[in-house]
Amino acid sequence: MAHRVAAMQPTIFTAMTELALKHQAVNLGQGFPDFDPPDFIREAAIEAVRGPYNQYAPGVGQLPLRQAIATRMKNRYALSYKPQDEILITVGATEALAATMMGLLDPGDEVILFDPCFDSYRPAIEFAGGRTRSSVLRPPHWQIDPAALEALVSPRTRLLLLNSPQNPIGKVYSRAELERIAALCIRHDLIAVTDEVYEAILFDDQQHIPLASLPGMQERTLTISSLAKTFSVTGWKVGWAAGPAELIEALLRAKQFITFCGAAPLQIAGAEALGIGDEFYTELADDYRQRRDFLVEVLKDCALNVLPSQGTYYLMVDISTAGRGDDVEFCRWLVEEVGVAAIPASPFYTNPVEGKNLVRFTFCKSWPVLEEAAQRLKQGFAVPEINSGTPIN
Ligand SMILES: Cc1ncc(COP(=O)(O)O)c(C=O)c1O
Repeated sequence: MAHRVAAMQPTIFTAMTELALKHQAVNLGQGFPDFDPPDFIREAAIEAVRGPYNQYAPGVGQLPLRQAIATRMKNRYALSYKPQDEILITVGATEALAATMMGLLDPGDEVILFDPCFDSYRPAIEFAGGRTRSSVLRPPHWQIDPAALEALVSPRTRLLLLNSPQNPIGKVYSRAELERIAALCIRHDLIAVTDEVYEAILFDDQQHIPLASLPGMQERTLTISSLAKTFSVTGWKVGWAAGPAELIEALLRAKQFITFCGAAPLQIAGAEALGIGDEFYTELADDYRQRRDFLVEVLKDCALNVLPSQGTYYLMVDISTAGRGDDVEFCRWLVEEVGVAAIPASPFYTNPVEGKNLVRFTFCKSWPVLEEAAQRLKQGFAVPEINSGTPIN
């Protein structure tokens, strides 16, 4: 094993899923829907496989998908991108992030990100020889601290990586926060990289504002997203990056020798999916809001301190008063004794201690699964009745 990977443990998701299987637990851990994607996208994939799309796609991706992404960014966010050289199709958002680091970082370059963050960010930066500088957001409001952020900037800072809506905390960045981040990027000539895979899963009148849409930002921002969460196709791994041609060219040079291209017919199906009308998005967000509200009530009934979730399909619980140890101990107890799997938050942090009182639950599960989880949680957290029979003398 090379030094590069020796210190990297199997991800927390793999470990918790194995534990969930072993104890036949209801899995509210890993963030993938256990229900089928909409019929129209599955039909589009079948049609594409039947059609002439079964050989290598162009390295930059199928043109219809790049066109569909450009149209959607124009219609939803008033952002213009040229499908020819300002959009790159990748194997999920994960490859877009990895190719970004490979394509834009020199060894020793620094990347600012916001903890707690998705677990692929740090390894992707390290593979490229980069260094992570994290700004820790703290519950319950997870607000950015502009002074702390400013202090992270050094002459080696090259990128700022932002995830909104943010996994695992369900935070949606406000316009005011985005303006501060944009000003910092402009002041220090940083490239912004945004991971917007949960852009369509927003609650309570929250609005998705791409950082690229702020004045002066499109020319310095790479916007990354994917089909996975919006269309419940996490297994397809169809993602993309949109940005200035010279940045896209840097990603492409890395990507061409990582995967060269992704699954050709699924890109064609993706082009069709992105043409869906606004009603689909309204229903998607409303459906997840109902699941969120259900799980919030269940967890509150267990006397757990549930933190607000404004977007994504996750919510965080502060377990500091639950009396079951730290996040890892709590999750182990939950899976073994209660039969429900969740994810300890410490692996989402550069400094794991920051997450020791936090646990992430997902609600992207079918109703019978959520109801079964509710039953188990109710039983697991029930206060044992005090035996009032024989008085003790
Ligand atoms: C914030 C974030 N980014 C990226 C991904 C991965 O996206 P994809 O499946 O398109 O690679 C995930 C998946 O959970 C995620 O939560």
